[in-house]
Amino acid sequence: MQDILQALEAKRAKARAGGGQKRVDAQHAKGKLTARERIEILLDEGSFEEFDMFVEHRCTEFGMDAQKFPGDGVITGQGTINGRLIYLFSKDFTVFGGSLSLTHAAKIVKVQQMAARNGAPVIGLFDAGGARIQEGVDSLAGYADIFMENVMSSGVIPQISVIMGPCAGGDVYSPALTDFIFMVKDTSYMFVTGPDVVKTVTNEVVTAEELGGASVHGAKSGVIDGSFDNDFDTLFQMRRLVDYLPLSNREKPPTRPTHDDPERVEMSLDSLVPANPNKPYDMKELIEKVVDDGDYFEIAKDFGKNIITAFARIEGSTVGVVANQPMSLAGVLDIDSSRKAARFVRFCDCFNIPIVTFVDVPGFMPGTKQEYGGLIKHGAKLLFAFAEAT
Ligand code: HXC
Repeated sequence: MQDILQALEAKRAKARAGGGQKRVDAQHAKGKLTARERIEILLDEGSFEEFDMFVEHRCTEFGMDAQKFPGDGVITGQGTINGRLIYLFSKDFTVFGGSLSLTHAAKIVKVQQMAARNGAPVIGLFDAGGARIQEGVDSLAGYADIFMENVMSSGVIPQISVIMGPCAGGDVYSPALTDFIFMVKDTSYMFVTGPDVVKTVTNEVVTAEELGGASVHGAKSGVIDGSFDNDFDTLFQMRRLVDYLPLSNREKPPTRPTHDDPERVEMSLDSLVPANPNKPYDMKELIEKVVDDGDYFEIAKDFGKNIITAFARIEGSTVGVVANQPMSLAGVLDIDSSRKAARFVRFCDCFNIPIVTFVDVPGFMPGTKQEYGGLIKHGAKLLFAFAEAT
């Protein structure tokens, strides 16, 4: 019996070593944590329960039968954040660059299905080079299975994607089908096709950061919902975000005890909004003064800044705040702010989160840029979302 236990422990140690010390060192040298270190920070201490630790790929082409790593480039399982259940997968860049094989995909799908069945969020930590090239179309079939689960779980359980390294090709589309995407500044990037392909096809010369870094997706494309300075800070912020969310659409939003007196009267609000409607003021100051303990979690802070979307608490219960921001473009509604707020309102509606709206808006933005960009359709998304919300 002792022999069997020792053999099992040796197998576990091999799985925990990922792609080996050299690749782990290279990962650290880039300022990134390993897939397992990230899980330790994200979850409550000692709560991680790993699944499928010994799964290996089944590819025999290109000498792959001689290259096997238990776990196959992704660590999957369940754990808790402040005592609440979540499911997660964390891509291991040290094993085949975290690339997606058919078995790697099956591990992710299993976690997605368990999360939907048991009513708990899924968090995906991405750091990978896309489809496993050696597997060809098998890998692509794996993506299809993951996308399907993303779609079926949409509005049922919260799905959060965190980009912590490269995220290219097929890997970008699962995050895009989830509720929120966050990135780590400077060490992560996200694009469908990388700089080399871009150069070949369009002759454009662009760096990875210029094409898909956190600043681009945070402020320009609006693909992501926020970015943070390093792995540690990003994972800590994800713990904060999960605290605001119900575990599934079958639950009410969570409540947290607060010392902030619900009867509190904030006299400074009387003078915050200027008598002259042409004078701007900072709506964030107003939000801070209204919500519990002045604490809120902003979504897409750098995109469509003329509208603010944030999770906060009132009398301990989560609310979604939607507020025009007079400090930016006088708080006008345009394509970006409509898109951003519509998505946020729909998320809140799906997950029973009441919406608190602070309105101070001069109307929709005039001009050819907006009309040519489809303001009519994008603006309608916001109207639809509010009208549909119960
Ligand atoms: C297999 C891969 C891999 C991949 C990286 N590796 N990407 N193995 N399949 N897709 C391996 C490398 O061979 C290397 O192995 C290790 O991971 C680290 O990679 P490096 O290139 O040394 O790292 P780095 O210089 O940091 O560059 C990272 C990278 C680059 C930018 C991600 O590896 C890269 O461009 N990879 C290919 C990206 C790609 O074309 N993916 C397929 C997209 S198509 P060793 O053994 O040396 O450690 C797709 C289909 C979309 O995804 C379909 C959607 C429906």
